[in-house]
Amino acid sequence: MFVKVAKTGDVKPGHGKTVEANGLRIALFNVDGTFHAMDNTCPHRGGPLGEGMLDNGNVICPWHGWQFDVTTGKSPFMPVGVKVFETKIEGEDVLVNI
Ligand code: FES
Repeated sequence: MFVKVAKTGDVKPGHGKTVEANGLRIALFNVDGTFHAMDNTCPHRGGPLGEGMLDNGNVICPWHGWQFDVTTGKSPFMPVGVKVFETKIEGEDVLVNI
């Protein structure tokens, strides 16, 4: 089920934001105009991934620096990952499939 979580202008390219969809906290990222969504909770100690910096397609957890590819949710360095969600744009709305 696709749920509207933001307007396209809410998240600037190269940035992220924590949004909510049906009670789920989701990290939403804009990588060069393409939106990606993943579970907001870092599997290390629960850091808010939506507040992390983006580096070359990876989000860096703001708490201790674990990294996750925003496309796959996988860590480039360790066998851990977070769930990713499909996104789509309708007009100026960003929707996430939860
Ligand atoms: S909580 Fe994310 S790296 Fe520790």
